[in-house]
Amino acid sequence: MTSSFDLLVIGGSGFVGANLTQAALHAGFKVAYTYVDHRLQLPVSSYQVDLQEKSTLETCLKKTQPKNIVYCALPRGNETKHRIVSIEGVKRTLDALDKATYPKFVYVSSNSVFSGRKGQYRELEKTDAEQQRDDYRAYAVTRAIGEQVALDTWSNSIVVRTADVNGRDVQGNINRRLISLIDQLESGQEIQRLSQAYISPTLVLQRKVRVLRVLLMAFLPFSPSSPTLPPSGEGSLLSLWERERVRENWQGAIARLCAVMLVDNLVDGIMEILDEDFVYRGILHIAGCERITYYEFACKLAKFVNADVSLVKPDPSKIWDYSLDISFTQSLLKTRLLNVEDQFKGIFCGQTWSARNCSIESNHPLVS
Ligand SMILES: NC(=O)c1ccc[n+]([C@@H]2O[C@H](COP(=O)([O-])OP(=O)(O)OC[C@H]3O[C@@H](n4cnc5c(N)ncnc54)[C@H](OP(=O)(O)O)[C@@H]3O)[C@@H](O)[C@H]2O)c1
Repeated sequence: MTSSFDLLVIGGSGFVGANLTQAALHAGFKVAYTYVDHRLQLPVSSYQVDLQEKSTLETCLKKTQPKNIVYCALPRGNETKHRIVSIEGVKRTLDALDKATYPKFVYVSSNSVFSGRKGQYRELEKTDAEQQRDDYRAYAVTRAIGEQVALDTWSNSIVVRTADVNGRDVQGNINRRLISLIDQLESGQEIQRLSQAYISPTLVLQRKVRVLRVLLMAFLPFSPSSPTLPPSGEGSLLSLWERERVRENWQGAIARLCAVMLVDNLVDGIMEILDEDFVYRGILHIAGCERITYYEFACKLAKFVNADVSLVKPDPSKIWDYSLDISFTQSLLKTRLLNVEDQFKGIFCGQTWSARNCSIESNHPLVS
């Protein structure tokens, strides 16, 4: 028996995919996802689909008949696996889709499709992943080809490039890249971080944390300089709400509270582009708005968690720039793409932090 799902997340058990699956569920979507080894504890339909196998993908697509597909599958392993998942899997998915209903296909990709020689890459710049010479080459090259396959063969496609995603998984655990940094800082270890290599850190958050954050923000003082928060006044959001309410500006008060809730940049951005009214097709950069070096990022994190910033040492040995220019994408989205400090506020709920209270979970192969 077949039934039409609003959304199928291929690779929905991963860090990004699981947060998206959960957000879609909470938004009232009829959502299904695929997994290989890590089935989620979510009340949604799941399908075990290993793209290295012959027909499980096609069977899943036939059963779900999705109106939207977000492709987050990413293998661990050698170039052959990258080809199978990042290229062949896209071709097979698009071949199996119903041309009459013409579902929207969103391919989640990466800033790694660029060589890092230039930086501040714009959406329509030519990719040059083949110039990469490091461990990420197979990932980067196959992802770049996968993008092209999607755009060339299915005009209802959107490629979403993101970068250096930090945040919490659906269990509420902070990702390994961030937690290992915090662990090292808390143990008083010196850490060297590249001071001439630029990235665009991006936020993804688990839903419960977002709700908790809103509640906390309602009672805690906020910094008036923070761009996520109301531009004027001091005090808590609750007092702001009161002031607005007294001025009978209900609309303003609600809008400002909503602005604080919309802190999961990547997932909110993807949810926005899944909307029927979102007409753009092509490439988008849904990443943080701040271009920052690994060194500056670690210093900001140290300050944020009250660790000794002098433990972070600059390492000028490598020069590259993988940052993404997000200005075009931002002009199309209501979701405001955040700077690093506001991302930390989202992740840590504005609270002082102890890494010991948090377990570690991220199976992304690029974060170790
Ligand atoms: N995380 C980042 O920092 C980052 C940065 C830039 C771009 N991105 C992009 O974001 C997307 C998702 O990344 P992520 O961090 O969420 O990755 P992830 O946590 O490693 O998740 C990968 C997903 O792919 C599935 N998968 C692995 N091998 C597969 C196979 N052979 N067949 C079918 N599915 C397979 C995994 O299933 P199981 O877990 O069940 O085995 C999991 O659902 C990728 O497109 C990546 O390029 C991520």
